[in-house]
Amino acid sequence: MAMIHEEIQSQIEKRRTFAIISHPDAGKTTLTEKLLLFGGAIRMAGEVKGRKAKKFATSDWMQIEKERGISVTSSAMQFNYHGHHINILDTPGHQDFSEDTYRTLIAADSAVMLIDAAKGVEAQTIKLFKVCSQRGIPIFTFINKMDRYGKDPLELLEELEQVLGIRSCPMNWPIGMGDEFCGIFDRQNQQIELYRKDGQSQSISLEGRGLKDPAIVELIGTSRHYKLCEEIDLLDIAGDPFDEDMIKQGQLTPVFFGSAISKFGVQTFLNNFLKLAPAPHAHNSSIGPVDTVNTEFSGFIFKIQANMNPAHRDRIAFLRVCSGKFERGMTVNHVRSGKKIKLAQPQQFLAQDRDIIEEAYPGDIIGLHDTGTFRIGDSLCAQDSFEFEPLPQFPPEHFARVLNINAMKYKQFQKGVAQLVEEGTVQTFRTADRTEDLILGVVGELQFEVFAYRLKSEYGADIRLERLPYQLARWTNRNTSVDPGRLSTLSSLCVTDQDQRIVVLCEYESTLTLLQRQNPALYFYSSPHEADIQNDLISVI
Ligand code: G4P
Repeated sequence: MAMIHEEIQSQIEKRRTFAIISHPDAGKTTLTEKLLLFGGAIRMAGEVKGRKAKKFATSDWMQIEKERGISVTSSAMQFNYHGHHINILDTPGHQDFSEDTYRTLIAADSAVMLIDAAKGVEAQTIKLFKVCSQRGIPIFTFINKMDRYGKDPLELLEELEQVLGIRSCPMNWPIGMGDEFCGIFDRQNQQIELYRKDGQSQSISLEGRGLKDPAIVELIGTSRHYKLCEEIDLLDIAGDPFDEDMIKQGQLTPVFFGSAISKFGVQTFLNNFLKLAPAPHAHNSSIGPVDTVNTEFSGFIFKIQANMNPAHRDRIAFLRVCSGKFERGMTVNHVRSGKKIKLAQPQQFLAQDRDIIEEAYPGDIIGLHDTGTFRIGDSLCAQDSFEFEPLPQFPPEHFARVLNINAMKYKQFQKGVAQLVEEGTVQTFRTADRTEDLILGVVGELQFEVFAYRLKSEYGADIRLERLPYQLARWTNRNTSVDPGRLSTLSSLCVTDQDQRIVVLCEYESTLTLLQRQNPALYFYSSPHEADIQNDLISVI
């Protein structure tokens, strides 16, 4: 027994599971490709440049992604590097993203925040950052595209603090930028890494001579040298000091500069990341934190994806391993249904290449063939029957009425809607009146397009979407004597969700305030989960 525990412990220490958060175009695909290349994990790098020539990053696999050149779904990739076993959770890079993106972050132990030096902190980064910071996971910042002219590095640090409210500690510092970019100064190791476009950078140690050495002045030029010394002095005196505990608690972000396109700064980043990022640790459950080593295999499903391979019409549930050793063919408890399930063909992901895996350890992501058994948030345990904390649900912000325009395909339409809802990227509602129209709610607008496209291409159903003006959804308390009809006004609509809870869709915050005033017996909650907890409490009282 002790042997197996030692094995699990040593495998856990090797593992790092993280997600990259960024705004579209910051260079996430490029950075991911370079990271995978260091690990020798991809046969063809799928260079970003090549994408226009219809070669794609390995993480973009759906047809719609190929056509639009964007990453719609989140996938998981693995690579080995210097004795580490690294899992990258890919999050969609488009500004319109789904709940799915947020949930993927729940399966990560740390996040890499990628920022375009010219654009600074952008909208989608802010949203994703919030989810990570609420979980208190460590966040590592990579400021990209230093080979182009961008914002002043000090200004970028200030933005991190002002916009995101996180303190930062630059691990290295850029020397010039754009055409003048000549490298980075590594503060901890006191060395300069010289930039070369072809990715062959060179390191020069300053040990025993320091930054002020005349040879260094000559190497990087007087004006760049002057600016560098001035900025480093400022950081040394007024900047936040390096503090490993604060980094681990997500209160301080180590910052790295580089240029992903030429690999520059990426390896330095990776080496430091591996030193500082946490290995998988205990997840909370119905019986308290689950010990990663001493608890038999357990994990939770954070994503379901149908039809990843149109030729096979398959459906895959992505599971994050939380404890113990997973072995192919093992029988586990599917806690929600109380049934036992044999996990015969688990898969590991490197985008389209799927290998059957024999074993997996905490931190790993495995894909399970699903014939409709699994739901997002399900817990699987080899021995016990505990459930991991429910995954957060994020309220939709965009709504549309869905009309099936080909009556002959009604069955396909129904099946497609049901499956896509189970994947958890969209939520559906029915109007509470007699017409019972189907209403779709999404977190990101692009999901409408993805939904219509997938219904057509995967189920053969044609739909028309009529956009509705509502912007927020609120769940109400059950057992209320209020007539749901009273909640439908000129700027609100009363609907029911998939589980028959009463929900009100409002155009404005002010609409909600008014409804609240008119119906003092009602409570409004921003997620079904919150409503259920409160309703249970009310029924106990
Ligand atoms: P994303 O996944 O975050 O959306 O970004 P992606 O990697 O696709 O990169 C977006 C654009 O930024 C690409 O240019 C890419 O080549 C460029 N890029 C990424 N990293 C760097 C960098 O370090 N320096 C510079 N100068 N550019 C970088 P594109 O014009 O959209 O595509 P392409 O013409 O290069 O194919």
